[in-house]
Amino acid sequence: MEPLLGVLALVTLLSPSLACPSPCSCSTKKNGRLLAECAYRELRDVPRGLSPNVTILTLSANRLGRLGRASLAEVPELQSLWLGYNHISAVEPGTFAALPHLKNLDLSHNRLAEFPWQDLRNLSALQILKLSNNRLAALPGGALAGLRELRSLWLNDNELATLARGTFEGLPALAQLQLFHNPFNCSCKLFWLKEWADSTSVVISRAGSTLCAAPPRLRGRAVTAMPGSLCVAPSAQLTYLSSPPKAGPKGGLTLSLHCSVAGSPPPEIRWQIRTATGRVDIHGPTVARDGGAKASKRRFLAFKNGTMAIPDFSKDDEGTYTCVAINDVGARDVSVSVALAGSEPPAEELPRDDPQAGQPKGDQLDPSGMGEKLLIVYHVPRQVRSAAAAGGFRLGILPALLGVLLFW
Ligand SMILES: *[C@@H]1O[C@H](CO)[C@@H](O)[C@H](O)[C@H]1NC(C)=O
Ligand SMILES: *[C@@H]1O[C@H](CO)[C@@H](O)[C@H](O)[C@H]1NC(C)=O
Ligand SMILES: *[C@@H]1O[C@H](CO)[C@@H](O)[C@H](O)[C@H]1NC(C)=O
Ligand SMILES: *[C@@H]1O[C@H](CO)[C@@H](O)[C@H](O)[C@H]1NC(C)=O
Repeated sequence: MEPLLGVLALVTLLSPSLACPSPCSCSTKKNGRLLAECAYRELRDVPRGLSPNVTILTLSANRLGRLGRASLAEVPELQSLWLGYNHISAVEPGTFAALPHLKNLDLSHNRLAEFPWQDLRNLSALQILKLSNNRLAALPGGALAGLRELRSLWLNDNELATLARGTFEGLPALAQLQLFHNPFNCSCKLFWLKEWADSTSVVISRAGSTLCAAPPRLRGRAVTAMPGSLCVAPSAQLTYLSSPPKAGPKGGLTLSLHCSVAGSPPPEIRWQIRTATGRVDIHGPTVARDGGAKASKRRFLAFKNGTMAIPDFSKDDEGTYTCVAINDVGARDVSVSVALAGSEPPAEELPRDDPQAGQPKGDQLDPSGMGEKLLIVYHVPRQVRSAAAAGGFRLGILPALLGVLLFW
């Protein structure tokens, strides 16, 4: 009997569900989960020899300095990982990605200036993420996207000066957020956070201690108390300039669209032009305020004041003209479809865009400026050329009149 008992004892000892590295104490919880308790042990590394069935691992208050990719490979079933109060300054990307069941991750009170944000994409079960009291200076936009179970997020006591618009979107379970004690730069780039905080049901803990560190005139003021008058999302409106047609170099007509924008800070204007032959993106004016020598060589003339002129407007220039107004608070676009009608009144077969078809880029619809409209430049038949005009007299080449039909 004795040898058999000895074998049984050995089997029990080696049974992975009971394997426990010497610095830790392991126990099975009532719910059957295996807890490995390794806190307060002055550990410099994650101990080896943990059972693969460990679901809770506490390593808080040790001296861990760096987490290598393989450091948690032994415990793929982890649901809770407590790493607070260590000296962790680096985590190799991929370290957490191998823990798909992780629900609780505590890295608070460490020395992290960087975090492997891409690992979060694999942590779709994550509910609690504590990164507070570190040295994080940036949180990439979209880093948290996809954490559909995330309930609690602690980012307080870091070096965050700004956060990208939409950082907390796509987190349907988020209930509690801590952002206080970060040196926020309350420029209009952060204004979305105030607006989001005003409208969200997420509890922002100690919002009154979530303060602006810059600019000087807002220092010490709560982010949620940023004055709204300084940061106004752009609005944009497209109009057709109804000045009489002018002769271009080739005697054609010049189409002028004007995009009037408002907002604070003053929005920058961009144009996106889609024609049958392709797409043209124009960022900023292509012509100086007073016109320029090169101006006549360009197909699309974008002026600083928001006017877009298309000299010698032809069938090739038919398409959709979109004005995009952008400032730190947001973006807004407004489009118009332009078609050149032939000598007959506008026919039924002309492409007519659904006025609802415009895709707003901004957050709100602007009733004055949104939607795609159809602008038809109606080209009345040329004058019959007289014999006298044949020798270079240009009247016959000029479009005698433009009928401009605006459907708005
Ligand atoms: C882990 O736990 C399961 C069920 O609790 C058990 O069947 C399995 O043998 C354990 N595996 C290891 C490697 O301990
Ligand atoms: C993380 O998820 C990606 C995509 O789902 C997968 O290809 C990758 O293997 C995962 N990484 C780890 C370490 O499991
Ligand atoms: C705050 O942000 C604004 C706008 O992005 C920037 O111009 C300014 O330099 C920043 N200030 C500080 C102190 O970082
Ligand atoms: C914008 O500037 C151009 C060039 O100076 C001018 O032709 C145009 O009329 C201006 N538009 C408006 C709306 O003032």
